[in-house]
Amino acid sequence: MNDVLKVTELARSFTQGGVTIDVLRGVNLSVGVGEIVALLGPSGSGKSTLLQAVGLLEGGFEGSIRIGGEEAAKLDNDGRTRLRRDALGFVYQFHHLLPDFNATENVVLPQVIREAEMAPARARAESLLTSLGLGHRLDHRPSQLSGGEQQRVAVARALANRPALVLADEPTGNLDERTADIVLAEFLRLVREEGSAALVATHNERLAHKMDRVVRLHEGVLEESSGGG
Ligand SMILES: Nc1ncnc2c1ncn2[C@@H]1O[C@H](COP(=O)(O)OP(=O)(O)O)[C@@H](O)[C@H]1O
Ligand SMILES: [Mg+2]
Repeated sequence: MNDVLKVTELARSFTQGGVTIDVLRGVNLSVGVGEIVALLGPSGSGKSTLLQAVGLLEGGFEGSIRIGGEEAAKLDNDGRTRLRRDALGFVYQFHHLLPDFNATENVVLPQVIREAEMAPARARAESLLTSLGLGHRLDHRPSQLSGGEQQRVAVARALANRPALVLADEPTGNLDERTADIVLAEFLRLVREEGSAALVATHNERLAHKMDRVVRLHEGVLEESSGGG
């Protein structure tokens, strides 16, 4: 299987007030094409730190991150921006939708940034949102949507440019349990339909086991966990 992501001996420390914490101590991880991997670990174990490194949002790490065969450490700022835009999609715990734009526009925008034509971008946005059950909410702004609906828009936005890899950081962490289950199921279905791979951080064991494979972050390294979805 081809890897969309290959992380080798990734290390990241933070120094604050003269104290250094080694959050990641040599993480190794491969994610295959179309594979959905749960990144499991308690709060503070370094899940967000790992996703931020893989998302090329922060430097300051050692080791290698290859996305679609491209070594991130060898790219300059523009190269990282291009790779992030062309290969990655993001879903956060809080939706980070643009408040002054409606659902459709929030999903159109990343496509337009990638120089898509307006008509197909709009059609793609409407199709993704409709597939997530939001066909009757296309013109609503984020403040006019429920938490579950906001996260669905964030999911559609993450998939808008057909990324090879979606990075999701506690994507349902802000929702009640029942809504979280429904939104996660829809997220996983859509990622599979679209053929994207995903790396999904969660501290929830039950949600983690709905994915293809579970890796566990423990004392700064990843352990392969038995049993996936
Ligand atoms: N920018 C930062 N500066 C200092 N310490 C940080 C920073 N980001 C994260 N940390 C520390 O790294 C550890 C892991 O944090 P994080 O990656 O957010 O864990 P998780 O997402 O699993 O809850 C924590 O001890 C946190 O305090
Ligand atoms: Mg986190």
